[in-house]
Amino acid sequence: MKDSIYQKVVARLIKIGVSSPRLEARLLIEDALTNKEKNIFSVVLNDEEQKKLEENLEKRLLHMPLDKILQKKDFYKDTFIVSEDVLSPRPDTEILVEESIQTAKIHGLKSVLELGVGSGCVLFSILKEITYIQGVGIDYSIKALSVARQNLQNLNLETRCLLMEADWFKDDFLKLFSQKFDMVVSNPPYIPTSDISELEPEVKNYDPMLALDGGKDGLDSYKRIAFLLPNLLKSGGFGLFEIGQGQALSVRKIFEQNGLKFVRSVSDLAGIERVLVFQKL
Ligand SMILES: C[S@@+](CC[C@H](N)C(=O)[O-])C[C@H]1O[C@@H](n2cnc3c(N)ncnc32)[C@H](O)[C@@H]1O
Repeated sequence: MKDSIYQKVVARLIKIGVSSPRLEARLLIEDALTNKEKNIFSVVLNDEEQKKLEENLEKRLLHMPLDKILQKKDFYKDTFIVSEDVLSPRPDTEILVEESIQTAKIHGLKSVLELGVGSGCVLFSILKEITYIQGVGIDYSIKALSVARQNLQNLNLETRCLLMEADWFKDDFLKLFSQKFDMVVSNPPYIPTSDISELEPEVKNYDPMLALDGGKDGLDSYKRIAFLLPNLLKSGGFGLFEIGQGQALSVRKIFEQNGLKFVRSVSDLAGIERVLVFQKL
């Protein structure tokens, strides 16, 4: 029997080492179909559908990540628009979202600032889940902010969230804010510059460098954010930060040296510490 289109796509994805070839094949075929009701496993494509599938498959074979090809990614409970101007939302980052939601609910927090909002996946997931929270998201990438604005609109959160262009390394950064926040969250760039060339092509060639490069030791943004945090948080407020593998001790020290109390760390399913929680006393 002849191989189905699905089987052929799976085989081509396996050749370049895609870790979930069956899932990706299904999503690529589904995206190409004009009639989404068709059975993906036995489908016959018309010329237009075949052309679209082939174009997208070519991109994937060049290691463009699937979400950047389809320009959307499921994250936490929603689907977000993505582009090459934003970091692809990562499953690990859902830990930051869950921990932020839990902290906000337990302590009745009403305002949240995200430093480095990117696509908006973290901040908007928190706002969607807790309907009385108001948010501010900042990023120094105008292109990322434009993607975030589209997601903000799609999720109907415009009245509860302000997006601003700002660079936390600038001297006048704190002047932007007329209020302090109950919670500050961030998934800042944390890859040491010299490690970037070792990353898989899906990341180093398609995620924006602005979202990855954490400076010589990967800790530049944590140092700056820890310095700023006491002036951004109300007394009793919380700071939650995603960290890279092996960074927990260094990041904890950086925040403690700036007067923040370490509350807890949260690990991913592999046991790697992924999120650190601090409080301003
Ligand atoms: C690792 S990405 C996280 C994006 C998104 N929050 C997420 O978790 O998917 C870091 C984001 O911080 C932004 N960023 C990096 N350095 C910055 C700085 N100095 N000031 C403002 N934004 C910055 C980048 O443009 C990028 O959107």
